[in-house]
Amino acid sequence: MSLFKKVDELRSEFKQALASSPALSDLELLKQYYLGRKGILNDLFKQIRDIEPARKGEFGNLVNKLKQDVQESIDTLMVGQKSGAGDSAGIDVSLPGVLYQRGNIHPLEQTLRDIKSIFHRLGFAVAEGPEIETQWRNFDALNFPPEHPARDMQDTFFLQNGSVLRTHTSPVQIRLMLEDQPPIRSIMPGRVYRNEAIDAGHYCLFHQVEGLYVDEHVTHGELKATLELFCREYFGENVKLRFRPSFFPFTEPSNEVDVSCFLCNGKGCRVCKQTGWLEIMGCGMVDPNVFSSVGYDSEKYTGYAFGMGVERIAMLKYGINDIRLFFENDVRFLRQF
Ligand code: DAH
Repeated sequence: MSLFKKVDELRSEFKQALASSPALSDLELLKQYYLGRKGILNDLFKQIRDIEPARKGEFGNLVNKLKQDVQESIDTLMVGQKSGAGDSAGIDVSLPGVLYQRGNIHPLEQTLRDIKSIFHRLGFAVAEGPEIETQWRNFDALNFPPEHPARDMQDTFFLQNGSVLRTHTSPVQIRLMLEDQPPIRSIMPGRVYRNEAIDAGHYCLFHQVEGLYVDEHVTHGELKATLELFCREYFGENVKLRFRPSFFPFTEPSNEVDVSCFLCNGKGCRVCKQTGWLEIMGCGMVDPNVFSSVGYDSEKYTGYAFGMGVERIAMLKYGINDIRLFFENDVRFLRQF
């Protein structure tokens, strides 16, 4: 066989040897075999003396090229194997993989879902209304007198056509009652707007969940029982409720509801400001004037209503101390839920 042909043959033989993905120890042997002092390529090189003078240069180059290629291939594979965990393909299986961050549910959405699911089990339907409302539905029909301070520019965003960005979800009560006759039992989640100075506790928009139950013989006792059940489900079995007298134009009597602080069990801590109680919602019996504005007979029907701020509830539950975090969409915040 000509020596030229021999070079070709060694090259393809080497390629074949690599094709079987040799392990590190095999690579050492291959290196010895091809490139060692007594290796096959040195041996071949010595045979240059048998080549006719005119082709000696050509032959020398050919063998040198093969030597170089063998050296490079083996070195590359060896580096791959040494950094790897011994995997034969030179892949380091111990390196961390490419991490795909999974999306997760926004804490507000999670809170809303939890609230909805509890009221769903209590037989409440879910209704929604638009964020742009007439002043009539947002205020008048809810028994706000014409000079009520909540109508002020300081609190309410007015649109040029005289509508408002709803300041609460209570106008959805009006929509429901205008559309349907009792019994009505619904919660009404949604976004509301207030023209307030923004700080850790206030934002220009937030979310509320409204509740309304109207039928014959609905009592304040049922209101208390329903809210107690909700709070136990949501905040924990051992929370206590406290109903304080309050005022809302659309309910009479009206209450503010506190739950015993579920962080300190009512002993007093930073979150409940040492009072042992957390204020979580407003409620009351639907004012007869509200029934009049939707054409219900207030002699026949009674009802209760309640309204809670979703951000506030989420902040208490998850220990979030700044309402703005809900709206900034900083993944470092969102990833924690
Ligand atoms: N609409 C009230 C607010 O935005 C919350 C509220 C209080 C709603 C008492 C009610 C209720 O339905 O009965 O502050």
